[in-house]
Amino acid sequence: MDDLRQAALAVRERAHAPYSNFKVGAALRTVTGHVAIGCNVENVAYPEGTCAEAGAIAAMVAAGETGIAEVYVVADAPDPVPPCGGCRQKIAEFAARDARITMATVDGAERSVTLAELLPGAFGADHMERT
Ligand code: THU
Repeated sequence: MDDLRQAALAVRERAHAPYSNFKVGAALRTVTGHVAIGCNVENVAYPEGTCAEAGAIAAMVAAGETGIAEVYVVADAPDPVPPCGGCRQKIAEFAARDARITMATVDGAERSVTLAELLPGAFGADHMERT
């Protein structure tokens, strides 16, 4: 877990967040032990910005990995920052319901939950099966 924290803190420094001034770093470990990192990348056309978690997931897939075992997200905030709704669904695409999601602050506060706790009632592929 400490390696994920260090990786998330380091990549957070490289975030491109000139509009919100809110830098976020994310690091995830895949089921095979690979670590992927991402930071938020904002855009002057605001909706085009991407979250740190989305960047880490893109890096994971680009590395040929598709199974998330755990995720660590860190920001400079009063309390640990939870992934946005869209990122919860993105994580759910690649993680089991018991995958651990840890939210943290740069000061060291942490809150850890499972994906099932973070995204109850998630939409999944089974919802598209008729029989
Ligand atoms: N952000 C993330 O990157 N991850 C989160 O979990 C929450 C929000 C980013 C998006 C935007 O660049 C900035 O934080 C402010 O919302």
